[in-house]
Amino acid sequence: MILSFFRTKKKEKKRGPKLRVDLHSHLIPGIDDGSQSIEESLSLLQGLEAAGYEKLIITPHIMSDSYPNSAKTILSGLETLKTEAKKNGIALQLESGAEYYLDEYFFNEMQKDEIMAIGGRYVLFESSYISKPLQIEEMIFAIGEAGYEPMMAHPERYRYIKNPEKEYRRFKELGVHFQVNINSFGGHYGKQAEALANFLNEAGMIDFLGSDVHHKKQVDTLSELFYSDVYHKIFENNTIKNDTLLQ
Ligand SMILES: [Fe+2]
Repeated sequence: MILSFFRTKKKEKKRGPKLRVDLHSHLIPGIDDGSQSIEESLSLLQGLEAAGYEKLIITPHIMSDSYPNSAKTILSGLETLKTEAKKNGIALQLESGAEYYLDEYFFNEMQKDEIMAIGGRYVLFESSYISKPLQIEEMIFAIGEAGYEPMMAHPERYRYIKNPEKEYRRFKELGVHFQVNINSFGGHYGKQAEALANFLNEAGMIDFLGSDVHHKKQVDTLSELFYSDVYHKIFENNTIKNDTLLQ
């Protein structure tokens, strides 16, 4: 009797809108700082499937010094992962793109026309967190010139952003889509990233939401955030386009 009284009193948190597609993660084993083994990848895939995703577009780092990946290393890793996922009863649709670090290597890859674009359309890029690259605008322009649309990975994580209103507006004027990490809203990347994620949310500037999963803890925190008030607000303030990438 007493137990049921407390049960009815407890405020049930409602789950926010379901994202069918995730477009940022590091789940191909051993090629970047994400999953390091096929077993770890399969467990992360299972966690993301349980969180409600149907399709993952996996985006290994391409960074000349640390992770010199190419379409070849990524696609061969993806094939192995797909085979193992199927064997283990995972029904997720798996594709790949890449997370490009804006450097000279990136320019060379663009010229070779070997770009791993998300859905054949969006080039996901990141840059130094500490200082804004001098040529960032030229690089963004070059993505458009090559026939793609630029998508900035986690704009809330760049510590060089001092005047969010002005700096984010400028990127938007340049045609940049913003992919915010869901875990930023839970403080996973620190206070500044959380504050900037909230700024982007309230300004209605978020285009895509990413898991950016590298390891298990991020799947757990993500799954909890789906029940948070701030997660509900994202969908009230922004037009989230993840599921346009379903086909
Ligand atoms: Fe990432």
